[in-house]
Amino acid sequence: MNATINLENKHFPVLLNELISIISPLYGGTFIDCTFGQGGYSEKILENKQNNIIALDRDKDVLSSTSKLQKKYDKRFKFYNLKFSQLDQIKLKNHKIKGIIFDLGYSFDQIKNSHKGLSFSNKGKLNMRMGINDFSANEIISNMDENNLAKVFKVFGDEKYSKKIAKKIVETRKDKTIKTEDLVQIIDHVKKYQKTKIHNSTKVFQALRILVNKEISELINGLINSFNLIPTGGIIAVVSFHSIEDRIVKFFFKHYSEQRNSSRYLPETEIPEKCFKLINKKPIFPGLSEIKKNPPSRSAKLRYGIKTNDKCDFSEFREKFKNLINIENLR
Ligand SMILES: C[S@@+](CC[C@H](N)C(=O)[O-])C[C@H]1O[C@@H](n2cnc3c(N)ncnc32)[C@H](O)[C@@H]1O
Repeated sequence: MNATINLENKHFPVLLNELISIISPLYGGTFIDCTFGQGGYSEKILENKQNNIIALDRDKDVLSSTSKLQKKYDKRFKFYNLKFSQLDQIKLKNHKIKGIIFDLGYSFDQIKNSHKGLSFSNKGKLNMRMGINDFSANEIISNMDENNLAKVFKVFGDEKYSKKIAKKIVETRKDKTIKTEDLVQIIDHVKKYQKTKIHNSTKVFQALRILVNKEISELINGLINSFNLIPTGGIIAVVSFHSIEDRIVKFFFKHYSEQRNSSRYLPETEIPEKCFKLINKKPIFPGLSEIKKNPPSRSAKLRYGIKTNDKCDFSEFREKFKNLINIENLR
């Protein structure tokens, strides 16, 4: 689920070569990096002197990496501390946008930052805010009712023990504030300290992170905004790390690249035109050597599409994932 961890604890942008080979035919313009992180993608694109980068990240802590690129590339690099759902707020005068890139999830710097509390290895107050958030995981674990907690763990984490974990949380919080280490303990206790391939807490932590950062609505709005921003011929490319993200990204590209003609009696002028051309129907995965160097990259999938139509009606896209958005709005 993480794009930038490797065994030597070094920054390691996932699927970088694959991404560059997809976008490089369009070089000579501006690319928007919606998830700057430590700037691995941005820097590689800026190495070509014809390119500019507009970068976004919701996390202010990336500023040390942005200032490095600012110094080195000056006017060719511009950073906004915004969420990608706010893409429509950036100024694009005089920019010819060629590609918009998303590398979802969190970076190695974020997970090792104990204040952010993204990892179950951290101790202390629950947090999980990546930046520009309305609430933290502490507020959820302290206040959300049992049924809703169970629903969040089930739907966003696919957690088999969601109900039992939610019940134990509600019991425990009567006596004390639940910290990160307490939550890990609760989950271990419910799962009877099972030793499995993935850590007992992985699924619940993923669910909480999705909820706190509203990752579903971020992704849906980010993708729609990127379509509205990019001219036809431009590329939208997305690297996702878990199945919910990939379902959304897959639907966005696949559904809107097919001829959506429900009735053969519809006059040709009324058939909605395709919004994307897909070069690869299947996602691109990291190769074995990348997975060997950086094991967490094994869950990465890269999908992309070329915009072929000026306008697209995304109401079916929003409708399809309405249930997930409703759960994201539970409090
Ligand atoms: C996997 S890292 C990106 C790594 C980057 N490609 C690199 O090469 O260094 C994901 C980054 O996206 C940011 N992010 C996640 N969701 C975001 C959102 N909705 N809007 C803006 N930034 C977001 C995170 O704060 C994190 O820094």
